[in-house]
Amino acid sequence: MLNIDPFKLNYVCGVNLNLMFNTLLSVRCVTICAGCTDVLVLLFSVDKMHNLTLAVVRKTAASSSYKMLSLTKTAKKGLELKQNLIEELRKCVDIYRHVFIFSVENMRNNKLKDIRTAWKHSRFFFGKNKVMMIALGKGPTDEYKDNLHKVSRFLKGEVGVLFTNKTKDEVQEYFDNFKDTDYARAGNTAQMAVTLDEGPLEQFPHSMEPQLRQLGLPTALKKGVVTLIKDFEVCKEGDTLTPEQARILKLFGYEMAEFKVTIKCMWNSETGDFAQLADGSEDMQENEEEEEEDGSE
Ligand SMILES: *[C@@H]1O[C@H](CO)[C@@H](O)[C@H](O)[C@H]1NC(C)=O
Repeated sequence: MLNIDPFKLNYVCGVNLNLMFNTLLSVRCVTICAGCTDVLVLLFSVDKMHNLTLAVVRKTAASSSYKMLSLTKTAKKGLELKQNLIEELRKCVDIYRHVFIFSVENMRNNKLKDIRTAWKHSRFFFGKNKVMMIALGKGPTDEYKDNLHKVSRFLKGEVGVLFTNKTKDEVQEYFDNFKDTDYARAGNTAQMAVTLDEGPLEQFPHSMEPQLRQLGLPTALKKGVVTLIKDFEVCKEGDTLTPEQARILKLFGYEMAEFKVTIKCMWNSETGDFAQLADGSEDMQENEEEEEEDGSE
């Protein structure tokens, strides 16, 4: 339907352009002021990737030259993906009995995979909070179904949406039992203080001693055995862990990151009823700016 070979645009609206364009959709020549001969040229074009380009070119009467005022490219592809997600979410609202919003702590991809596998009968969506808010509706006037805007208010931070026909009790029970611990990563908060006692560390081969020392551990080889020559405090409770601390905790088998799913609220598609399940007061106090940062592109 559209010609998508790039072509050069030479002369338009009395302006001598030398711009390459893909399919040209439309050209507008706008006179800026009554009685003057300044002209604005607005060019809309679209490329194979459905990116829309808007070029605004001005030609002043005083000279025959023109000036490119702006060249804007819109990622229409991104918009389409958003639109698809919105439609997908709304379809789920239509076909599933319940919608749950849950928050996740210490998310690990492998854990998420386990959950998805166990809940194949249901649908999970993560991230893209802003798009999900649009799909459900932000307020009573634009919500997709009654009370969905109350669900939207919980779409902040690391949360996901679960569409399911399972009951609230089934969902609660599954996630209450799903708690699991894993090794903390750099940047996580230490859940407890850890101090290592001096003495031999026979679990490590002697070849590892330099590596341990490099992590900051006061080690030495004594008769070929890796030995901690004095007590060593790895972390205090509440420390934000450095990569070295996280590595030491892992080497010594301290699991501190609890993977946990908390159900925040639910919505029933048959009755339109909304219910808050976990104490969400903290989330509600977060200011509006937070929304802008959820990296939902
Ligand atoms: C969920 O239940 C509704 C009836 O309440 C049914 O129409 C729908 O097909 C079910 N969805 C799934 C995915 O099983």
